[in-house]
Amino acid sequence: MEKSITLNEFIIHQQAEFPEATGNFSCLLHHIGIAAKKVNREVNKAGLVDILGRSGCENVQGEEQQKLDVYANEAFMEELQASGECCGIASEENEDVTTFHEGLCRNAKYIVCMDPLDGSSNIDVNVSVGTIFSIYRRKSPIGEAAVLDDFLQKGSEMVAAGYIIYGSSTMLVYTVGRGVNGFTLDPSLGEFCLSHPNIKTPASGKIYSINEGNYEKFPVGIKKYIKYCQEKDAKTNRPYTSRYIGSLVADFHRNMLKGGVFMYPSTDNHPNGKLRLLYECNPIAFIAEQAGGLAFSEEGRILDLQPEAIHQRVTFYAGAHDMVMKVKEFLNFFN
Ligand code: AHG
Ligand code: MN
Ligand code: MN
Ligand code: MN
Repeated sequence: MEKSITLNEFIIHQQAEFPEATGNFSCLLHHIGIAAKKVNREVNKAGLVDILGRSGCENVQGEEQQKLDVYANEAFMEELQASGECCGIASEENEDVTTFHEGLCRNAKYIVCMDPLDGSSNIDVNVSVGTIFSIYRRKSPIGEAAVLDDFLQKGSEMVAAGYIIYGSSTMLVYTVGRGVNGFTLDPSLGEFCLSHPNIKTPASGKIYSINEGNYEKFPVGIKKYIKYCQEKDAKTNRPYTSRYIGSLVADFHRNMLKGGVFMYPSTDNHPNGKLRLLYECNPIAFIAEQAGGLAFSEEGRILDLQPEAIHQRVTFYAGAHDMVMKVKEFLNFFN
């Protein structure tokens, strides 16, 4: 029986490829894995304990915070601080950034932007949810409090990006810019084990993911692209299949493995798009590109966008290379 490679073993092996690596990043990633296991434990027993439902608070997004939003946020904040390698966090659930620069964290050189619980609307109905994270090197001097500019770096500056999907199994998928690797949690070991080495997304596919409830307000190019997906044309494998479950991580993960395109255009409620650049679009874009796909906004390549604010929203088109190029073609031609 082949020995499974655990996340920690993989991180250490990968660290050996970076001569300048000092283990700080490996330690940070290890603590992210611990936080993921804590959240997974709560997600798995949601419904049995008082972790479901609304927390009674609202977050800076004006969203009703779910108890699991709050729990996941606290679990990741706690582990990131405990790693001693993180000097600051920008989280969907906190209005401002949180910084650590004393004690264990005084020499920390990384900052993290995270969506602690993605797909919150699905928690109470037992549909997959996720966590999304991105890691940057701080730009401000080590030993001082991290500053806003440390968090407003372009996605192209990212050191690593990843997500955890709490689904039929729990997976951690991440990249450090050398391809994408997926690890499945083995509950009997309590370890994430390498299950999807070097993930490459198909150049094209049959799945398109979009909330068609917003159709009326879509850009004309997107309305035309949706009609294109629905037309019968054997040569280009159409009509495609519509799949959308309202959890970005789950929709993206399925499309990355099977071949598809995820779209969140401008809508009435969200004229600049709903998804947040720092902790949803940038990390997913890095993973999409590392898996051979693409990720664009109506303003251009996601990883090239200069963030202006930590909760900034952008339009988002990500997935299979040829499908994203086709979406861009329709947007450029009709808009
Ligand atoms: P979050 O739960 O972190 O606030 O993110 C929800 C996001 C994303 O997961 C999903 O793709 C999108 O919201 C769904 O939005 P709609 O319900 O408007 O389609
Ligand atoms: Mn939310
Ligand atoms: Mn989210
Ligand atoms: Mn969230």
